[in-house]
Amino acid sequence: MNTEIFDSAVPAVEVRGLTVKFPIRGGVFSKVKDFFTAVDDVSFTLSQGKIMSIVGESGCGKSTLVKSLVGLVPMTKGEFSLFGMPVKNGRAESTQKTFRVSDLVQMIFQDPFSSLNPRQTVSEILTAPVIARGFSFDESRSRALELLDRVSLPSGAMDKFPHEFSGGQRQRLCIARSLMVRPKVLLCDEVTSALDVSVQAQILHLLDDLRHDLGLSILFISHDMQVVRALSDDVLVMYFGHAVEYGPADEVLTNPQNDYTKKLLASVPTIRRG
Ligand SMILES: Nc1ncnc2c1ncn2[C@@H]1O[C@H](COP(=O)(O)OP(=O)(O)O)[C@@H](O)[C@H]1O
Ligand SMILES: [Mg+2]
Repeated sequence: MNTEIFDSAVPAVEVRGLTVKFPIRGGVFSKVKDFFTAVDDVSFTLSQGKIMSIVGESGCGKSTLVKSLVGLVPMTKGEFSLFGMPVKNGRAESTQKTFRVSDLVQMIFQDPFSSLNPRQTVSEILTAPVIARGFSFDESRSRALELLDRVSLPSGAMDKFPHEFSGGQRQRLCIARSLMVRPKVLLCDEVTSALDVSVQAQILHLLDDLRHDLGLSILFISHDMQVVRALSDDVLVMYFGHAVEYGPADEVLTNPQNDYTKKLLASVPTIRRG
């Protein structure tokens, strides 16, 4: 682990005024007619070793926000730093060292079916990110075996293909793959939404264990407010691209100040007994 190189007092992720606009095109020549603001002037801080959840209804900009951090969509405006290092052009630079954002931050998606190449074996899927970084085959394979074990999959999984696994197992594979480069931050976008309810809790426990064991910091997107309540240190509530409420989970979820947050919490189904 490379934790020791970072001062533990600096935040894992710091975002100021993050704005993402998508061009709206039209006409015969598909000219840009206007812009749609999907994320509007959002700021937050993710402290090291913490979980911050981003909540809000579908289409409010949650995925766009986290995708812009790893360069999957371009950031229109704003400042972003990792462990105190400003990020520019996909790189986090300090006076001593430069990191690629993908060395420090990895993303896990909702759908473990489409995010794994069906033609690659687990061994190929897991080793590819580190082989691309110059690791030898043996080093890559031993790291892959270590991570398979860490996500509770048998070593025999190495020579299988994604279709041979259940949804929950595939999400474990995605988690193992994301950890191959030993990232410090995970961005989890609705990672349990496509899974059976019985499997969801296992994946959430795994993420929470990994956070403790590996000192990960996690940005967690979910529409399940019970999960958010159970896991989060901080919560950011988004509404039409804006951050309408942000703070410690206890405060935001038990004493929301914003009308939209109140509605969001009131819409959570509760099970009444008796
Ligand atoms: N590549 C894109 N081009 C244009 N509009 C997009 C693109 N990606 C997302 N959007 C729009 O941005 C808004 C936010 O989307 P998204 O971040 O996926 O929301 P969420 O994850 O909260 O459901 C939506 O209105 C969506 O249609
Ligand atoms: Mg989304």
